[in-house]
Amino acid sequence: MADQTNLLYKIQKAKELVHNAKRVFVLTGAGISAESGVPTFRDAAGHWKNINPEQVATRQAFDRDPKFVWEWYDSRRLQLQDIKPNPAHYSLAKLEQQKDAFYLLTQNVEDLHEQAGSKRVGHIHGSIWELKCTQEGTVRHDRTAPMEDLPPRCKICGALERPNVVWFGERIREDVIAETERFLSQGEMDVVMVIGTGAIFDYIPEWANRARGARGTLIEINPSETELYGVDIALRGNAGEILPALVEPQ
Ligand code: OAD
Repeated sequence: MADQTNLLYKIQKAKELVHNAKRVFVLTGAGISAESGVPTFRDAAGHWKNINPEQVATRQAFDRDPKFVWEWYDSRRLQLQDIKPNPAHYSLAKLEQQKDAFYLLTQNVEDLHEQAGSKRVGHIHGSIWELKCTQEGTVRHDRTAPMEDLPPRCKICGALERPNVVWFGERIREDVIAETERFLSQGEMDVVMVIGTGAIFDYIPEWANRARGARGTLIEINPSETELYGVDIALRGNAGEILPALVEPQ
């Protein structure tokens, strides 16, 4: 009971800050899509509890057995095909409309943020709906699932195509880094929100803390403790319940 009262108090405080904020930076991870039915990576039923990422999410795995890797991505694409955004995604899209300065950096490779109406979104780990030619680097959008022939091949040169996602051991997307840095260089943030991520990759806590700077507020929304440090307000609950409460009118 005391915990619940404490959470409601913190939500109210965070709501005021979000409402008054002019510049807002948001970082999301798999947890924001959990209530849409998308598995996370490291929770009880997460992907990495069922399969070793070295078997499906490295360049070495792809070079060894591209068909096996593609079968895994094809099954994820199939699973994602009829999934819809949840209230957390819609709340962020609404928040973006209320703010002049807003940027959403997601680690997610699906496009539920865009489906909910978000526009200023960067996918730091790429997109599962894009295929990239391993020879020429050309990228094409394709939502077919299941795919007809695995592994898919480039229609122009015939080389193998790969999912245009970032694998372990690869660099995160340079274009998205540049976009994020451009946004951060334009002014100090009033509010930074980190939602639904274990924040295990150093660049997530680093970006969040740098963006928060000396005068902003760092808010975390996650039912569990994470690797994020420097948090000012930790809202321990589900994003689909907490975000609508933060964004609805005062
Ligand atoms: P994880 O699976 O590591 O973490 C998911 C987080 O979401 C956990 O902290 C959960 O507590 C939280 N969570 C679960 N349900 C939630 C809910 N309803 N509301 C809010 N939070 C909830 O996923 P990520 O942190 O996104 O990268 O993982 C980061 C990266 O690791 C992924 O992008 C992927 C993976 O390996 C690559 O594949 C490169």
